[in-house]
Parts: sequence; structure tokens; C-alpha cells
Amino acid sequence: MSRSIIEPFKIKVVEPLPRRSVAEREQILAAASYNLFGVHAADVTFDFLTDSGTTAMSAAQWGAMMVADESYAGSRSFYRFEEVVRRITGYDHVIPTHQGRAAEHLLFSLHCKAGELVPSNNHFDTTRANLEQLGVEAVDLVCAEGKDPTTEHPFKGNLDVDRLDAFLAEHRGRVPFVMTTITNNTGGGQPVSLGNLRLVSAVCRRAGVPFLLDACRFAENAWFIKVREPGQQDRNVRDIARDMFATADGCLVSAKKDGLVNIGGFIALRDNTWVPALRSRLILTEGFPTYGGLAARDLEAIAIGLDEVLEESYLSYREAVTRYLADGCARVGVPTMRPPGGHAVYLDARALLPHIPAHEFPAQALAIELYRAEGVRGCEIGSVMFGRLPDGGFRPAAMELVRLAIPRRVYTQAHFDYVLEGIAEIAARRDRLRGVRIVEEPPFLRHFTARFAPVG
Ligand code: F0G
Repeated sequence: MSRSIIEPFKIKVVEPLPRRSVAEREQILAAASYNLFGVHAADVTFDFLTDSGTTAMSAAQWGAMMVADESYAGSRSFYRFEEVVRRITGYDHVIPTHQGRAAEHLLFSLHCKAGELVPSNNHFDTTRANLEQLGVEAVDLVCAEGKDPTTEHPFKGNLDVDRLDAFLAEHRGRVPFVMTTITNNTGGGQPVSLGNLRLVSAVCRRAGVPFLLDACRFAENAWFIKVREPGQQDRNVRDIARDMFATADGCLVSAKKDGLVNIGGFIALRDNTWVPALRSRLILTEGFPTYGGLAARDLEAIAIGLDEVLEESYLSYREAVTRYLADGCARVGVPTMRPPGGHAVYLDARALLPHIPAHEFPAQALAIELYRAEGVRGCEIGSVMFGRLPDGGFRPAAMELVRLAIPRRVYTQAHFDYVLEGIAEIAARRDRLRGVRIVEEPPFLRHFTARFAPVG
């Protein structure tokens, strides 16, 4: 008989789980104008807003932080961090930054210019915004399966290689580099196969265009390659990760995900061409090249986190968590994006609440109900986030989703059982859920600050 996959840790430091009554949460919601970004974390029982920077660090990480070397230049902690990044990625040149978007801003502002185009499978919001503010077009070329929330394709993060080939021919000389996001966060946390990375790499090499990975969930991607890609099952996940990085010329990483830390990031590059300019600019904006906007204690924690995240007991547990949550939702009639990705489960609010029209924001209504009834905070990814046209008009988003992103090593199976019981109760009274309307909104990124009111 196969045995349960268990949490591969025991707990040494605990934090009380905040609990409020439904009546208290109703008042909190009204005071926050039904926008969950306005709710204090102290009033949230299960915080699934993001998996970024929310990791529980290990005793080894906390211990290393105490012995970190906080020297301004040439810190011992930097060389330790550099050794680990080099060993895991195979890239020689390592540039620390304070988080992922700082790495994006640094590299893009030096190596892209207005009128250029940068393709990826799907750009994450911050990569897109950092390109667009330079006048560069961020182009999504994810494969067809990646756009269908119901197919069970194993690698829905794959880039459409034929379209990339045609794209590079059409825009010759205007593409400074090609990117691929592993795993593909915007597309549901779906992995990219090693085969696809190799094809993208070959197309880029033929066109003479560099290829970069947005690799903040690289370990989860390597794990999915191990368990889903033919011929990879018996391989060590570290070797698979090395093979992934070997397809590209470098990577941008937010260490707040698979670095298993609360802050940090880096750029790592195979060759030296871009490095002197990046380091000079780094000094101007982030800090000296041996700390790059981080404390040395953060570099120590990342160095250890990058090794811990590649332990197979951790990765099988990590995959089991999202699968458990997604399968539990399916059992109580709440459809989710299939298959579940590495870091999050996406509830399909359009399918659950067909009586709430897009302009009354079904995913926002579901996110509000999850908080009101259960103290669960998720994130609307639907017509609140994407439905506003530049002229202020409305166009329904392609999907109405609530993302439940799972912090690493934070919640236990009993927590997920409790959340699933709550989701089952919500599903049973779905007909009584009502939509919301927007009473006030800013011109950009309205999901962070818009004010809502219940309809009717
Ligand atoms: N790239 C991807 C694929 C990401 O998911 C994120 C952050 C970043 C880059 C930016 O990194 O936050 O360190 O500046 N994603 C978080 C999320 C915020 O909730 O999905 P950062």
C-alpha cells in the first residue's frame, strides 16, 4: 500500500493562527470596502494571497543568519551565496538584488529599448510592467493548451515554438532576448518541459537571440519534469534543474519563492558580456555587487534555501499540497484550473457562480465569501484585475479565477481539511451568493485599491 505523503519537517517555532467570528469579519469587510488588499493580515486566518516571501524558514536558515558577515565589500556570506547559485544554475556571474522586480528593472533598463519586443510563454505582471514602462512590447506565446483551464496536459506552460520561430523571423533585429517563466505563474503555475526549453533554446540560438529564464519557481518546475516528462523519472532533480538552466544564457530569480526566504533575488548569467554594466548600475540603484540591496544574513538564508528546496521529500510534499487542495475542491463541486500547478490552486468562479454576470465580478464575490465565512484570503484574477479598458470601459476577462497561493512549509494538512470543509459549505449555498459593484476605482491596477459594495 502506498503511504501518505507527509510534511517533511517538524515544527520548532509557531505563531498563533488569527481567528475572528463571521460577524467580526463582516464588519472588517465593510470597513475595507470589500477589497481584501485592505484587510489586515492579523484578521486573516488562512492567508493565500501569495506564495511570495511567505515561506517558513528552517532552523538552518535562521542559524546561518546569526553567523552572517555583514561587511560592505567582499562579505563571506556573498561568496557562499555565489557558490550555491553557481552550483545549482551552472552560471558563473551572480548579481544579487533585493527582489525579482529589481532584477527585471536592472537588466531590462540596460538591455532593451523602446520599440523592441520581448516574447515569453506568459510574462508575469512585474516583468510585463517593467518592459512596458520602457516602451517595449511584452508578448505572450504560450501553447494553445496553456489557455484552456480544463485540459489535463502535463506541460501547459510550454512556449509555442513554431510561433516563436515565425515571430523572430518577422521581428528580426527587434528582439533583445526571449524569456520563459518557470513555472508559468500567469498561466496557472503550469510547468515547462525540458524538451520545450531545449527547442526554444535551439530556435533562439539559430536566430542569434539570447534566452533568459524567469526562474523563481525553478525547483517546482524541475520536479514536474521529473514526475511528468518521459525518461526523467529516475533522474535527480538537481541534475534536471542544471539541464533546465543549461538551455538558457541566464536567469532572473525572485528568491521569495523557491529560494525559501522572505526577501531577495538575483540575476545569474553564463557569460560576462552584460556583467560590467549591470554591476555598475547595481551600485547606483541597489548596492555594492557583493550585497545588492540585501543584508548578508539574507544571502545566507537564500544560500541554504536554494539547496533545501531541491530536496525531493520537500518537492513531493509541495506537489501533494496543491493536488490535495484541488482534488478536495473537485470532490465538493468547485471546479479548479487543471491540472493544479506548483504553487497555487485557481478556483473557477464563472463555473461555480453562473448566475453572477461578469460585470458583477463573480471571482471577487467568491473571494469575499471565502474571507467572510472562513477567514481565507485569496486573490481575484478576473474582471476586476483585467476587465478595465484603457478608456475606462468594461470587457470581461478571459477567466474569472480566485487564486489560492500556498505559502511554503506554513500550513498543515488539518488546515487544508478545514479550508476544504468551508469551501464545501460555500459550494452548497452558491445560489445565494451575490455579486459586487465598484463604487470607486483608480485609473490603473484597480484591484489593489478599488472600493466595492454588494449588489442588491
Ligand atoms: N516573476 C514571477 C514569475 C513572479 O511570480 C514574481 C512575483 C516576480 C517575477 C517578481 O518577483 O515579487 O520578488 O519582485 N510574484 C508574486 C506573486 C508577487 O504573488 O505571484 P518579486
